[in-house]
Amino acid sequence: MAREDTFSALARYYDALMSHVDYTRWETIATELTTHLPRGFRHLDAACGTARFLDGCLRAGWDSSGVDLSIGMLHAARLRTAAPLAAADLRALPFREGFDFITCLFDSVNFILDDEGIPEAMAAFATALRPGGVLYFDIVTERMVTEYFEGPAWTEDNEGFHTTWKTDYDRATNIAETRVRVNHGEASTIRERIYPREAIEDALAAAGLRLIICADAETWNPPRRNTIRLDFVACKPPIGKLTAKRLTAQIKERLR
Ligand SMILES: C[S@@+](CC[C@H](N)C(=O)[O-])C[C@H]1O[C@@H](n2cnc3c(N)ncnc32)[C@H](O)[C@@H]1O
Repeated sequence: MAREDTFSALARYYDALMSHVDYTRWETIATELTTHLPRGFRHLDAACGTARFLDGCLRAGWDSSGVDLSIGMLHAARLRTAAPLAAADLRALPFREGFDFITCLFDSVNFILDDEGIPEAMAAFATALRPGGVLYFDIVTERMVTEYFEGPAWTEDNEGFHTTWKTDYDRATNIAETRVRVNHGEASTIRERIYPREAIEDALAAAGLRLIICADAETWNPPRRNTIRLDFVACKPPIGKLTAKRLTAQIKERLR
C-alpha cells in the first residue's frame, strides 16, 4: 500500500491556493445530514487536510475529529483547530464503530489510486461507523478533468507567491497528474484517479453500506453527462427514515 505524502510540500500553501473554494455547499449539506443523527453524534472528517471544513464543524458544536495521510497537512490543521487529529489512511482507518457521521470531501477519495483502494476505503468507513451511521463523500468525474484540469500550463498569482499548474490525463489509467510549482521551486506532483460511479456503488454495497443517493453535487439532481462532481450519501444499516426522496427535497430546499 503506497503511503506517499504527496501533499507535504504544498501543505503550507494549501489554504492560500484554495482560498477561492467555497466550502458553504459542503457545510450546508453536512449540516442537513446531521438532522438525521442522534443527539451528541460523533463525527470524523476523513482526509481532513488543513481542517478548513473540520474546524467549522467543531465551532458549530459538533464532536468532531480529523484524520489525514499527510503529516504536512495535519501540521497545518493543528495550527488551525483544536479538534483531535491523527494520521491515518482512508484505506485502513483504525476505528471500529466509533462514529455516527463520516465526511470525506473535496474529492479526497479520488486520491486513492490503487485498484483495491476504493473497496478498502468503503470497508474502512463501514467498520468505523456505528449502526445507523451516515457517510457523506464526493468525487470528481472525468468531465471535471477534461473540462477544467487538463490542458496547457497556467500560472496563478496568489497573495505573496505564484504557482504554475499543469495537468495531464492518462485515459488508459484514468489518472490525472497535476504538477504544481510554487515560485521557482521544485514541482510537486499530485495524482487523482477517476472512478465510474458504478465502481463506487459496488464498493459501498460490498462493504455493507446502503447507498441513499448519488447526486450531481451542484444541483442535487440525478447525475448527467456534464456532471463534474458527484455527492454520495450512504448509511450503515439499520437505515431509519433517511430516504433519497426526503433527503433530496431537504437538501434542494437549502441549496436554493
Ligand atoms: C484535496 S485535499 C482535501 C482536504 C479536505 N478534505 C478539504 O476539504 O479541505 C485531499 C486530502 O486527502 C488526503 N489524502 C489523500 N489520500 C489519502 C489517503 N489514502 N488517506 C487519507 N488521506 C488522504 C491528502 O493528504 C489531502 O489532505
